[in-house]
Amino acid sequence: MHNPLAVCSFLLLLPLSPSNAQQPLNRSLDLAIVEIQNTLNTFSIAVDTHNFTLLSDVFTPDATANFDDSHGELAGLVSISAVLQTGLEGLRSWHALSTQVVAFSGPREARTTSYLQGTFFGQGNLTGQIFTTYGRVGVEDYAEDAGSHGNLTRDLGKDHSASFIYVGGEISCDPGPGIEHIYEGPYYSYYNWPQRLETDDQESVQSAYDLLDDIISTEGPFDGILGFSHGATLAFAFLVQHARKHPYEPPPVRCAVFVCAMPPFRLGGNDEWIYDQAFLEPGALAIPSVHVVGKSDFVLEHSLKLYAVCDAARARLVVHGKGHEIPGDKENVALMALAVRELAHRAMFG
Ligand SMILES: *[C@@H]1O[C@H](CO)[C@@H](O)[C@H](O)[C@H]1NC(C)=O
Ligand SMILES: *[C@@H]1O[C@H](CO)[C@@H](O)[C@H](O)[C@H]1NC(C)=O
Ligand SMILES: *[C@@H]1O[C@H](CO)[C@@H](O)[C@H](O)[C@H]1NC(C)=O
Ligand SMILES: *[C@@H]1O[C@H](CO)[C@@H](O)[C@H](O)[C@H]1NC(C)=O
Repeated sequence: MHNPLAVCSFLLLLPLSPSNAQQPLNRSLDLAIVEIQNTLNTFSIAVDTHNFTLLSDVFTPDATANFDDSHGELAGLVSISAVLQTGLEGLRSWHALSTQVVAFSGPREARTTSYLQGTFFGQGNLTGQIFTTYGRVGVEDYAEDAGSHGNLTRDLGKDHSASFIYVGGEISCDPGPGIEHIYEGPYYSYYNWPQRLETDDQESVQSAYDLLDDIISTEGPFDGILGFSHGATLAFAFLVQHARKHPYEPPPVRCAVFVCAMPPFRLGGNDEWIYDQAFLEPGALAIPSVHVVGKSDFVLEHSLKLYAVCDAARARLVVHGKGHEIPGDKENVALMALAVRELAHRAMFG
């Protein structure tokens, strides 16, 4: 049970559907919301029918719960179930969930807040009396394989440093170079990717900018944007073109995290990378940023190029020993999380 409010809210741009996230976001989102609602509703059914075996469909074995001050924080499904069984003995009740918000922080991660009203009907010498309780329930729902970014976003969520709203690509594409060894398909991109010198893909790029504008205006404001690979390239390009187009408006977000990023580029006739120089003017990015680069990443030199064009006073570099991925191991997660916390602090408090 968690407070969904976080210090810094990020848009999360991950172009690849992590392995086992079989469904494209446009379809699975609805299904996922229904699944989450069913899970929450099962709680009501379990306590009202006194079928406590159902609780294992609601809580993970290591779940924690805090029902009231007298019991404090309950650790584990076994103690949650025991307290409910004892507390509900001989009671007839009717629990209803109402107001509900489901926020996705990854393709397979969501956080919900619901209001709960429980009505208890007195028995024995209390027959005819009705007691009501009110509460707010929060559920964090992680599918088993949240992708390697899951450890980072979880770490930042733990102390409410940051929350993430996942934005998936909508265009089916081939896996990028090296990607098929890391993630199973299907693969999605935000715009036709990679772009080639000889084709004009501006319309597809513009629709990706529009997608971000749309999400920011309907679900925002957001404090930051975190992009990986092609998602980081989009995040960078989106911010730079926004500043050009709206020079007198504040930037759409206050900070950015680029993981394994490449500057906007096109492939030439021999598949060589040709940077879009319009994006590489010094000072193109005017907000604080963190650049996470991988020592063994095949795009390392490109990630460093992007870092080099960002304002040195505002850009921080984090180097990990891995390849083209968001590392999930403890040491690198700690390194990245520290940089993002510090970034959030700089962005929010100057
Ligand atoms: C989801 O998006 C993809 C790519 O845009 C499209 O091919 C697919 O039909 C969509 N699925 C549904 C159920 O709308
Ligand atoms: C509890 O719910 C489960 C799952 O729906 C069901 O199989 C079981 O029979 C129920 N137990 C009782 C005692 O109703
Ligand atoms: C009501 O019943 C409970 C147990 O069934 C008993 O402990 C309590 O003293 C009773 N209260 C009154 C007011 O009779
Ligand atoms: C995430 O962290 C857990 C616990 O430390 C670890 O077992 C798991 O391998 C990590 N995931 C990745 C993708 O590194």
